[in-house]
Amino acid sequence: MPGVLAGKAVVITGAGRGLGEAYARLAAAEGASVVVNDVDSAAAASVAGAIGALADDSDIATWTGAGRLIDNCRRAYGRVDGLVNNAGLFRLADPREQDPEEFRRVLEVNLLGTAYCGLHAIRAMLEQGGAGSVVNVTSGSQSGAAALAAYGASKGGVASLTWCWAADLAGTEVRVNAVSPNAHTRMADAFERHLGARARGQNVGKPPASNAPAVVYLLSEAAAGISGRIVRVDGDELSLVQPPRTAVAVRLPEWTVAAVAEAFAGDLRQQP
Ligand SMILES: NC(=O)c1ccc[n+]([C@@H]2O[C@H](COP(=O)([O-])OP(=O)(O)OC[C@H]3O[C@@H](n4cnc5c(N)ncnc54)[C@H](O)[C@@H]3O)[C@@H](O)[C@H]2O)c1
Repeated sequence: MPGVLAGKAVVITGAGRGLGEAYARLAAAEGASVVVNDVDSAAAASVAGAIGALADDSDIATWTGAGRLIDNCRRAYGRVDGLVNNAGLFRLADPREQDPEEFRRVLEVNLLGTAYCGLHAIRAMLEQGGAGSVVNVTSGSQSGAAALAAYGASKGGVASLTWCWAADLAGTEVRVNAVSPNAHTRMADAFERHLGARARGQNVGKPPASNAPAVVYLLSEAAAGISGRIVRVDGDELSLVQPPRTAVAVRLPEWTVAAVAEAFAGDLRQQP
């Protein structure tokens, strides 16, 4: 039986290890022609060699690097049908000490890299006949977590980008979704080391491979019509993440500081 991605050309960023490698392996097994991107060129070459894919070591955090990556896919396979914006940097820092250059680099890779690859790919998809699937990668940290300001903000930006692009592309056959994965990788190890005694082993027993079917589904035609969704994979649970929305509203009799304080002492007090 042909795989669900037979005939499709798919680019996966940061696919030299971890979750990206798992997405690349399943995409190839499902029949896709894959570009394995990773700034770690040896890692990209090793995964690409193992699955018969094309290796690419562009830095996706630059406009030209992202453009070269999408061009390499079009040159090798004649088109680009799918993009998984998986490459990411994970940095932990206390705001009292955080290095501003490091903050910038996290946003450059996680948010701008996703935007740059997405813009190049969306334009190519629209130009080649109008169909395609972009899968971004966000994280539960977008809702707030200590020591994760740069990383969480970058992933919150990716979530907003996903909802905005889905709105932009409504009415076309280019779909934009995201996944919020959970797996035991070197990134998860770094977080556990940081947490020390407070670590809860939340990634333990969650292999990267179990996150791949949701990504391959979103890339495939089985997901036709699905756009603007953020899909959370956590162990054996599959769920949808909602855009932020108003949780509770009160009407004030007058706009004074005292009236706002009264609202916080009343109905708004219960909100986390
Ligand atoms: N592991 C988890 O539980 C988890 C949870 C939520 C989100 N994520 C996200 O999933 C993605 C993959 O995470 P992982 O755990 O496999 O991490 P990882 O560190 O194991 O792999 C990330 C890969 O991205 C590559 N990369 C980094 N910067 C790049 C750049 N500028 N250009 C090209 N490649 C680059 C790295 O070389 C590395 O191979 C990341 O976006 C991460 O934020 C992971």
